[in-house]
Amino acid sequence: MFNKIKQLLPFFCYSFLLSFLFCINACNTKKENTKAIKNDWWKEAVVYQIYPRSFKDSDGDGVGDLKGIISKLDYVKSLGVDAVWLNPIYASPNDDNGYDISNYREIMKDFGTMKDFDLLLKEMHSRGIKLIMDLVVNHSSDEHEWFKQARSSRTNPYRNYYHWWPVEKGKPPYRWSFFDVNSDAWKFDSLTNSYYLHYFSRKQPDLNWENPKLRNEVYDIMKYWADKGIDGFRMDAFQFASKDTTWPELPKGYEKNVIKYYGLGPHLHEYIKEMNKEVLSKYDIMTVAEGAGSSPNEALDFVDPQRKELNIAYHFEGVDVGKNISEFGLEKYKAIYSRYDSVFAEKGWLSIFLANHDQPRMVNKFGNDAPEFREASSKMLTTFILSMRGTAFYYNGDELGMTNIKFNSITDYNDVATKNKYLEIQNKGGDTTAYIELQKLTSRDNGRTPFQWDTAANAGFTTGTPWLKVNSNYKYINVVTEIDDKNSPLNYFKQMIQLRKNNKELFVYGKYELIDKANPNVFAYSRTSAKEKILVLLNFNKEISRIVLPKGYSLGDELINNLQPLKLQGSDISLQPFQACIIKLK
Ligand code: BGC
Repeated sequence: MFNKIKQLLPFFCYSFLLSFLFCINACNTKKENTKAIKNDWWKEAVVYQIYPRSFKDSDGDGVGDLKGIISKLDYVKSLGVDAVWLNPIYASPNDDNGYDISNYREIMKDFGTMKDFDLLLKEMHSRGIKLIMDLVVNHSSDEHEWFKQARSSRTNPYRNYYHWWPVEKGKPPYRWSFFDVNSDAWKFDSLTNSYYLHYFSRKQPDLNWENPKLRNEVYDIMKYWADKGIDGFRMDAFQFASKDTTWPELPKGYEKNVIKYYGLGPHLHEYIKEMNKEVLSKYDIMTVAEGAGSSPNEALDFVDPQRKELNIAYHFEGVDVGKNISEFGLEKYKAIYSRYDSVFAEKGWLSIFLANHDQPRMVNKFGNDAPEFREASSKMLTTFILSMRGTAFYYNGDELGMTNIKFNSITDYNDVATKNKYLEIQNKGGDTTAYIELQKLTSRDNGRTPFQWDTAANAGFTTGTPWLKVNSNYKYINVVTEIDDKNSPLNYFKQMIQLRKNNKELFVYGKYELIDKANPNVFAYSRTSAKEKILVLLNFNKEISRIVLPKGYSLGDELINNLQPLKLQGSDISLQPFQACIIKLK
C-alpha cells in the first residue's frame, strides 16, 4: 500500500501543481474582467446645478428663492437628473452672491427660512433627488460673528480664526487677490492696526485652517447639515485653505499659475484627511473638490480612495480655454481630457462639466450661439457631457440652450469680479471699452441671468423686477416652448440622460479611447464595457467636418443623433456643423 502511494505521489503532485496553476490563471482572468473602479451612486449621478438666485422667484422680490425651487421640483424630476447642487443658500450680505457667509447655520433671508429648507430637502428626497450643498470655508464674510470678534482686538479668542499681519512688521509680503480692486489680498484694518488676508473680495476674509479650533468649528457645521440628511458637499475653493504662513515672496510670473503658488498649501491633505475622519466617514455623503491642483496627478491625490479624502475631482483645465474653444484649439482640448482620463483609469473619479455659475454659457464658449447653430451646438455639448467617463455636472438653463446676455454697460453687471476689475482698469487709465467687449464672452453674469420658464414677462422668473436682467431671447428659448418641440435642446437633454442611465456600464464606467487625436474639428472617442462598444462623434466646428473610421470599426445601430442622417461613404464620415452622433460598434 505504502509502495503504491509512493508510486502515485509524483502524479498527485503534478495534478496538484496543475490545478494550482489553473486556479491562479483563472483568478487572473477574473481580475482582468473585473473593472478596477467600483460602482457608486455619485459616479452614476447626473448632477443638475441650480443657481438659486436666478431659478424661480416665489414672492415677487426679483430674487429666486427656496419656495421657487420647490415649485419647480417636478420640472427638475422630469429632466431625469439624480441630484441637485445648490449654490450657497446660507445667510450672507451677498458681496459675492452667497459665497461670503455670515452664518453657516442660517438661510439667506432673500431665499427664505430654515423651514423652507427642510421642506425643500423633504420634497427632493420624496422625488428621489439628492441634494448637494456648497460648503464655503476657505473664507467667511467679514460680517460673520467670528470676524467681527477677530477684528475687535488682537487678543480676542477669535483672532486666530483669520490671517493677520500687524503694521509694526511693515507691509505684508504681497499676495494677489481674485476680486480686489487693487488685486491686493491684504487689507489694512485700522481697528487693530493690522492687515487681514482675503484671496477673494475684501468682504471675504480667509479663514485660518492652521488653527485646529477653526477646523473643528467647520466640522461641526458640516455635521449640522449632514445630520439634516443632505447628500453631499461641494467644497468651494478648498484647494486654497492651507497656507504657507511664513508668507514667502512670490516668484516672478506667479500670476500665470496661481494654483501652483496659492493652492495645495503645506497641510491641505492632512486637513482633508482629518475632515474625512471626523465627518465624512461617518455619513453616506459625497464630496466634490472644486479645483484640484494643476495636474491630473494632483487631482487624483484628492480622490484616490486609498487616501480617504474626497470623492470627485472638479478640475478647471476643461474650462480654462480662454475666450472660446475655437481660439484654444480642439486638439489641445482633446489632449486634456485624454490625459486626465488615463490618470484616472484605474482609481479616483472625475467630474465632467462645461459650465457653472463662474462661467459664461456653454453654447457661447464651446459651441456657437448664431441662430443657425445654437440648438445643434447645445445638443452636441450635451452629448459630450453625458457620454464621457466621470460624473456629469450640468448647469441650469443649458438644457434650454440659454446664451450669454452680453451686457453693453458696466451698470448692467452685478458680479463683484467684473465690477472690481473694471474699476481697477479705470483707475489705471486702461481700456474699459475693450474690457466690456471681453466680458460679453467671459463674464460670470452671462451664466447667471434668470432662468427662462415661459414667454410671460421676465420669462416667468419673477413678477417683480429681476435682480439681473433677463435675456431678451426668452421669447423663444424657454421651457414651455421647448417642452412642446420634440427636437428641442430640452428634449434632447432628457433623451441623452435616459441613454446614459440605461447603459451605465458603457456610458459611466466604460473605457474611454480617443480616436483621430489630430483631427482639428471632430472630437471622437469610443467607450467600451465588458460587453459592448460605442463610438461618439462630435463636430465642434461650424463647417462640415470629416473623420475616417479606424480600421476594424464596423458601425451598428445609431443610439442618438442631433442632426440626422449621418453621411457615410465607406469608412469616410462627414459631419454637419455641430453634429453629434453615438453609434454602436459591431
Ligand atoms: C466659487 C465662486 C466664488 C469663489 C469665492 C469659487 O470657486 O465658485 O463663485 O466667487 O469661489 O468663494
